[in-house]
Amino acid sequence: MSLERPAPQDVIVVGASGDLSRRKLMPALYNLAASDLLPSRGSIIGLAPGDLDDERFREFARGSIEEFSRTGFDQESWAGLSSRLTFVRLDEDGYQRLAQRARESERLIYLAVPPSAVPEIVRKLGAAGLASGTRLVVEKPFGRDLASAKELNSTIHDIFDESQVFRIDHYLGKETVQNILVFRFGNALFERVWNRDAIDHMQITVAESIGVEGRGAFYEEAGALRDIVQNHVFQVLSLLAMEPPVSLAPEAVRDEKAKVFSAMRPLAPAKTVRGQYGPGAIDGEQVPGYREEPGVAPDSATETFFAAQVEIDSWRWAGVPFYLRTGKRLPRRATEVSVVFRDVPLCFFEGTGVQDLRPNHLVLRIQPEEGINFSFVAKQPGPQVSAQQVSMDFSYRDSFMTEPAEAYERLLHDAMDGDHTLFAREDSVERGWMVVQPALENPAPVCTYSAGSWGPPEADELIAPRTWHLR
Ligand code: BG6
Repeated sequence: MSLERPAPQDVIVVGASGDLSRRKLMPALYNLAASDLLPSRGSIIGLAPGDLDDERFREFARGSIEEFSRTGFDQESWAGLSSRLTFVRLDEDGYQRLAQRARESERLIYLAVPPSAVPEIVRKLGAAGLASGTRLVVEKPFGRDLASAKELNSTIHDIFDESQVFRIDHYLGKETVQNILVFRFGNALFERVWNRDAIDHMQITVAESIGVEGRGAFYEEAGALRDIVQNHVFQVLSLLAMEPPVSLAPEAVRDEKAKVFSAMRPLAPAKTVRGQYGPGAIDGEQVPGYREEPGVAPDSATETFFAAQVEIDSWRWAGVPFYLRTGKRLPRRATEVSVVFRDVPLCFFEGTGVQDLRPNHLVLRIQPEEGINFSFVAKQPGPQVSAQQVSMDFSYRDSFMTEPAEAYERLLHDAMDGDHTLFAREDSVERGWMVVQPALENPAPVCTYSAGSWGPPEADELIAPRTWHLR
């Protein structure tokens, strides 16, 4: 599908001088400008407290693009963007001035602010008469538990319809996450075995080697379950487990995803593991433990690692465990799905020199080294019947000669275009919180793991007698 320019509209970034804007939004807007994918008309208005003005906001945007743009910096593309950039200081009557500055009848308003700031901003946007014609993008985390998510939804719905709301989860903007649907529903072969008859279990791992990166205060409030599992991991899970939609229309896809969330059993605290990294070494470099990070309490019990076994009570998945795992300061950055098929009923090769035969498994490498790997058993050349594990590999880079685009580019474009497919719907978000609620109310004790390890041994016990694919 080739993307088209969205209709004329203003793009307003609330929190324009913050970290998300600097690292992701300004570079994404720049790359959209470079690909001729900004709206055909309209301003890009930054809104923030502090002492920026138009000129300084442009300098800020240029600096962030030079530092973070995936395609580098090109003067001509920059000119296309910078002529549209303008700034409104967020003071007493900032929203009134914003309403005057927004000239188009439609607009995208991106709330690049901490969750606690959202309700007040939403009310002020309503009071300034900016409700109609707006598409509102709200960042994760969407709430911090079921009650707060419901409250946030209700505050937003006082001013905006659900059709105006785009809850962003940047994992849905990743090419490899979108490819889950294409892989499943574009290949007849795999869909036939994508069920409890053929699949033993699935694993989803989101491993990061970074720590909390100066976001200690935020992370203390969040932890790995709220930061990654309830949103990114659950979104990936819903795409893996959903039934075929009747079409690729946004609501058709979101309806099927919502059914997965409804069929997920609430987490059993005994089937969860919480960990926190202590000091250790990553790539040979000593790194401090979580409790020594700035902004973190010395006796913090916040988890930086979370693993769980999830059950989906549907005809397709009953009895198939889904093992989820995420952690900071693990040995490397890798997000992977591992689909492990059932073993052969009888092994003829036993005692004939077979080494380490494992059931077929399919690995979807979400990042990095984006691709897919399928492993199976083949006969080792020679007079004996002895088998060995081999694999077939697909790599995005080798096949398409390109690196996947930044998730935020696609998501910003789709939100400007009013396409909800890659955004989380109210019912799914609330149901996701319902699923994690028992683990929030009765958290498992926090176990320490060394930075640079694959998490606490309790996570291996959780999945035993199976084993984690990434280790
Ligand atoms: C964010 C989390 O949503 O996702 C961060 O708040 C995390 O803690 C990041 O580092 C990971 O994103 P990605 O795209 O690098 O996997």
